[in-house]
Amino acid sequence: MGETIRIAVLRERATGESRVSATPETVKKFIGLGATVSVESSAGATASIADDDYRAAGAEVLTEGAAKGADIVLGVQGPEADLLSGVKPGAWIVAGLDPFGRRDRVDAYAAAGLEALAMEFMPRITRAQSMDILSSQSNLAGYKAVIVAADLYGRAFPMMMTAAGTVSAAKAFIMGVGVAGLQAIATARRLGAQVSATDVRSATREQIQSLGAKPIFVESVAGIEGEGSGGYATEMSEEYQKAQAELVSAHIAKQDIVITTALIPGRAAPRLISDAQIATMRPGSVIFDLAVAQGGNVEGSVPDQVVEKHGVKIVGYSNTPAHLPADASALFSRNLYNFLSAFWDKEQGRPVLDEEIGNAIRLTQGGKVVHERLLG
Ligand code: NAI
Repeated sequence: MGETIRIAVLRERATGESRVSATPETVKKFIGLGATVSVESSAGATASIADDDYRAAGAEVLTEGAAKGADIVLGVQGPEADLLSGVKPGAWIVAGLDPFGRRDRVDAYAAAGLEALAMEFMPRITRAQSMDILSSQSNLAGYKAVIVAADLYGRAFPMMMTAAGTVSAAKAFIMGVGVAGLQAIATARRLGAQVSATDVRSATREQIQSLGAKPIFVESVAGIEGEGSGGYATEMSEEYQKAQAELVSAHIAKQDIVITTALIPGRAAPRLISDAQIATMRPGSVIFDLAVAQGGNVEGSVPDQVVEKHGVKIVGYSNTPAHLPADASALFSRNLYNFLSAFWDKEQGRPVLDEEIGNAIRLTQGGKVVHERLLG
């Protein structure tokens, strides 16, 4: 048995971030593995978790110096390097690190001799599914987008036959059927909308149908057959984009609710809806752009604002999972626990990564940036 390792949970500092990277449940489990856990005071406050809840789970709650002496620092987003003074040499930083957007911070971790592990780079392989923060958070985001759109919509979702007359069902169109899109379809269906959906990956057609929604696909130009690398989409040809724009133009004019979720890893989000297309929609319609923080799928969407164009409300949250902080934290925290516990070495009393996952997520080591996607 090695020395007892210390895990630190810091309060998130980023504007609008309401999640926390450990819950009393995961604190207890880490302690069960033999670790000690320190939690920065009020780290869980915005996710409805009190300091006392962490204490009851066995954590030490500290107002200052929570990271001191830590072997592993957990975060939802990456902590700024100045919060990490006093951590052990070579300590792990385990969080969603936004490696491309916050390259400066990755460099600072390297300079400080830390080992930064980017949870969003977790490979999409079966054994890592329970460690996948992108999936756990996208699923909740897809749900919330529909709920927010329903709230802003001045009509009802389900068809209602009343003595005063009939309310017709809302028509909802989901663009991009990954994890968020699938949950958006399911949520809109549960609320009683008539749902249709589209994607560039032809494998999604059956998934759409199995959720009781109507697939809307470009038929004239080939999309992505099966799954691309790791199940992700790539940028489409100009010919495909043109065919897609025509198809969407015809369909969107009849929609009341549109949820867009389309992303291409490492690139700006593809533009799927133009201002001219918005102008054809019925006033009072609502569009939720889940890709707004990555540049947006919708022309005119602005992060954290409701913009009205041609009578249509366009919404986008820069951090949608942070709008369900309790559930988002619970799932995120379990992803971190599932990851660290899967690699727990009983002899050493600490996690030891294997090559496949280590190489996929390790950004810095030995004072250097080591990840291939961040080199040259
Ligand atoms: P994502 O967030 O990168 O993209 C969302 C969706 O947008 C994707 O379905 C993508 O095909 C679509 N899209 C991209 N460009 C588009 C365009 N121009 N028009 C319309 N749609 C467009 O993807 P996400 O949600 O992260 O998941 C992608 C795939 O990965 C899914 O098939 C999912 O089932 C799979 N997956 C596999 C996991 C595993 O095996 N461990 C874990 C999680 C997801």
